[in-house]
Amino acid sequence: MEILGIDIGGSGIKGAPVDVTQGELSEARFRIDTPQPATPEAVSDTVAKIVQHFEWGGLIGCTFPAIIKHGRTLSAANVDDGWIGLEAEKLLRQKTGCSLLLLNDADAAGIAEMEFGAGRGRDGIVMVLTFGTGIGSALFLNGELVPNTELGHVFLGSREAEQWTSDRARKEKGLKWKQWGERVNAYLQHLEFLFSPDLFIIGGGASKKFDKFARSININADIQPAQLLNDAGIVGAAMAARRLAN
Ligand code: BGC
Repeated sequence: MEILGIDIGGSGIKGAPVDVTQGELSEARFRIDTPQPATPEAVSDTVAKIVQHFEWGGLIGCTFPAIIKHGRTLSAANVDDGWIGLEAEKLLRQKTGCSLLLLNDADAAGIAEMEFGAGRGRDGIVMVLTFGTGIGSALFLNGELVPNTELGHVFLGSREAEQWTSDRARKEKGLKWKQWGERVNAYLQHLEFLFSPDLFIIGGGASKKFDKFARSININADIQPAQLLNDAGIVGAAMAARRLAN
């Protein structure tokens, strides 16, 4: 079964048809720069261009970097404020003419990692964290997602984790991997104290460089880099949209 997965990010909007039984892209992905400002109108027009590129008329799963509840986008940490409170799923259905499911980007990446990546076969509490422009989180209990956890916004002392230890913070502040790793370690220790996860999965841009900061991490839980890397959002979005088929 094929479903079109689309991943809306702060810098790019990318999509590809996904074979949801294998968790693999069935065609090369297509990417368009995220329009700036990333207003609902401009972003949904870009999503429609991706759908047209694949001449798609079937089901679509689409991610967005915000809280998504009952098809509405309820926050906008790194995107235009026009999204707050918007019926975004409805807007995207209208623009694409397709049946579409909208979900949080980290939740989508987590769904893909749990079924086809580092979380395969893992029970207990698994916490997937994506380190990119922001920090996204996906929490699983025995494989079941607790959506919209937004753990990038917890505070470490007076600092919001996302401002202090995202991959963007590393780049903007010119932090060495060891310095950044120490920040990630403080963040993981705090989350471990709060949630006692069995496994942390580290995703987002930094997952490719896991070896460079793994030595700085000192926690009790297992820790693994994500395996699906750039495609996790696309694959997970498509997998989540399977429920539209029933
Ligand atoms: C947003 C989350 C999102 C994360 C990663 C955060 O700023 O609040 O909803 O998952 O960034 O994109």
